[in-house]
Amino acid sequence: MYFSDTQRVKNLSPYEKLCPYCILIIKNVILHQNLMIMENKKLFEQVSFPKLTLKNRFVRSGVWMKMADEQGHITPELKDVYKSLVDGGVGLIITEYTFIDKYDQPNPGMIGMYDDLFIDEWKEIIDYAHANGTKIACQIAAGGSQSGLEEAKQRRIMGPSAVLNRVSGITPAEMNEDDFNRLIENHKNAALRVKRAGFDAVQIHAAHGYLLSQFLTPYYNRRTDKYGGSLHNRTRIIYDVVSAVRSAVGDDYTVMIKVNMDDFMAEGEGLTFPESLEMFKHLDTLGLDFIEPSGANISAGNGIIQSFPRIARSVEKQSYFKEQVTEIAKNIKTPVILVGGNRNTTVMTDLLNNAGIPLFSFGRTLFSEPDLINKWVDNPDYVPKCVACNKCWDTTPNSCILNRKRK
Ligand SMILES: Cc1cc2nc3c(=O)[nH]c(=O)nc-3n(C[C@H](O)[C@H](O)[C@H](O)COP(=O)(O)O)c2cc1C
Ligand code: SF4
Repeated sequence: MYFSDTQRVKNLSPYEKLCPYCILIIKNVILHQNLMIMENKKLFEQVSFPKLTLKNRFVRSGVWMKMADEQGHITPELKDVYKSLVDGGVGLIITEYTFIDKYDQPNPGMIGMYDDLFIDEWKEIIDYAHANGTKIACQIAAGGSQSGLEEAKQRRIMGPSAVLNRVSGITPAEMNEDDFNRLIENHKNAALRVKRAGFDAVQIHAAHGYLLSQFLTPYYNRRTDKYGGSLHNRTRIIYDVVSAVRSAVGDDYTVMIKVNMDDFMAEGEGLTFPESLEMFKHLDTLGLDFIEPSGANISAGNGIIQSFPRIARSVEKQSYFKEQVTEIAKNIKTPVILVGGNRNTTVMTDLLNNAGIPLFSFGRTLFSEPDLINKWVDNPDYVPKCVACNKCWDTTPNSCILNRKRK
């Protein structure tokens, strides 16, 4: 049977009735929309990395609670802190910094990871996190002369060079070969304990003026050997620690680092950006799973204000390391975590889609409101209550002014 031209047109679908040019235009529009959908990443979506799947892109950054007992054991109050973070909806929790050498404790009330004794006591928290779809990493740290512990003044404290720490008043001993070996061993052993405890990841703390971070800082590192001088030499111990931790925990375990990208110290004293960009490019080759670039050196003299700026409501000043971390993300393949002043879901969504930043971490805002993420699920425009007053450490344990009970 043959159709006339009119019949043939009648039998065509509406799509087939269009001229070839229109079809081309429609195809392009569909393709463009698909691309837009592909680029439209969301903060609240599940995200998979090669070794870790997270239920959303929100991370709790390490926050020392000053709640452990004198030996570093977890207390019931501390368990409640971690459970409330799990209940609050964050995808990944990074614990506060844990000390990895019994005689090198940066602050009182810190959790210990210097002995196998600590492995089992995490089970309840880790199980609780996993039962609720939350991942949990443990941060491990060496303190050096940046110690607020009274006993530290009577101990032999290690440092890159024998330079007076401006905040603690401690002058450390310049590290010798045995000290380097001990430092590396401590990190290795602690990382293994973290893995054995059942944590999803380990994070090495090389930021904020603690021992590893001090090596990056010309003011603290006056060495003339292979650990001092050029940026590569100053960074060497960090590379050594990362490699030792990786070989201890194996290739299939998640290893992260929090490391300074700028000390914000007086000219000539501190690590600067973009000088540190070279370090990030090298760290990128070491098989790390995540890098959390941070900034400032608490013992710089300009102290905590520079470290954790007192920004609050102004949107322009939020996510205050975004420029540097965008630049780092452009130059490396390892996923970065943006820490510092994240308070607005529109700002973060923009950075997620346009700056190559896949994860966002939070210190103070989750300290004052552990359920902030759930609040954002209900209302993405919710404004966090934290006023960035930096009074978190005025009390023992650390507490937020907004949650302190009036006497
Ligand atoms: C009370 C308090 C304790 C902190 N403890 C740690 C810590 O243990 N490890 C760490 O890497 N950073 C620590 N930080 C820094 C935070 O992780 C984060 O880098 C900083 O607060 C900036 O982020 P924010 O603007 O979201 O607060 C602490 C910050 C505060 C306020
Ligand atoms: S004490 Fe101040 S800076 Fe710290 S969490 Fe509370 S409001 Fe924020």
